[in-house]
Amino acid sequence: EDIKIFAPATVANLSCGFDVLGCCLDNVGDEMLLRKNDLNELRITRISGQDLPMETHKNVAGVAVQALLKQLDFTQGFDIEIDKHIKAGSGIGSSAASSAGAVYGINKLLGEPFTVKELIPFAMEGERLASGNAHADNVAPALMGGFSLVRSYDPLEVLALPSPPKLRVVILHPLIEVKTKDSRAIIKQNVNLQDAITQWGNLGALVSALYVEDYELFGRSLHDKIIEPVRSILIPYFDELKQIAMESGALGFGISGSGPSVFAMCKGDEVAVSVREAMQLFYQEKGIDFDLHHSEIN
Ligand code: HSE
Repeated sequence: EDIKIFAPATVANLSCGFDVLGCCLDNVGDEMLLRKNDLNELRITRISGQDLPMETHKNVAGVAVQALLKQLDFTQGFDIEIDKHIKAGSGIGSSAASSAGAVYGINKLLGEPFTVKELIPFAMEGERLASGNAHADNVAPALMGGFSLVRSYDPLEVLALPSPPKLRVVILHPLIEVKTKDSRAIIKQNVNLQDAITQWGNLGALVSALYVEDYELFGRSLHDKIIEPVRSILIPYFDELKQIAMESGALGFGISGSGPSVFAMCKGDEVAVSVREAMQLFYQEKGIDFDLHHSEIN
């Protein structure tokens, strides 16, 4: 018995929701094959596409599954094969896809002892290994789809938010690797009160916009006074890209997760194509290598 799953890429933070907000792409992700073995042992038997550790305790998928099995006090062994399509250090939730995909698949093979929401803390252990911090803003949307919001980390409470149907996201990934651990290290630990006021106003409005499908309000809320000014220095021509995306009709633009990928939210495919082409042309002129994605949020 085996199971094949699609482990989606995700965009965390979405500007105003550092560590609490994220959304799930529906056409970018890894493929995983999971099966039971007779060895009482968890093994990562194959990884293609990326050079990642195969040892279970060093691999985010392995660590996440071990956390799940520990909870069940279970000795069943499993083999996991991973076809990585999401590049590590790209900012679209590569480690989260592996962690979330692995616990999702194993839970299925075990007859679903856990609900999808209950899998989040296990997948977060993969994130802890990858970045030193067990954030949930990639693994939650990877598991639940659409948009999700971490209302609280302690105790963990995650909410599923609606996804307006015409929303499209364009992702531009400059081909440089930024480790989440490093881009977390440069963030300031203290927040200015005026910036905090702006940020929580935007975050509240963004959530509201998702419910009432107000695309313009959604776009107006995509601002980040706290993290983006620091992290954007790691991204080539960030300000220019933002200007180009906005002039091409994007609703909003920001850093995807911890970067270096950037995202542009758009209403409808036509605008998304214009935004994509404008950003592409600009990077080509600058001679910067990149990947591009264009997806619905599901
Ligand atoms: N919220 C996390 C961060 C996401 O920005 O560090 C990492 O993908």
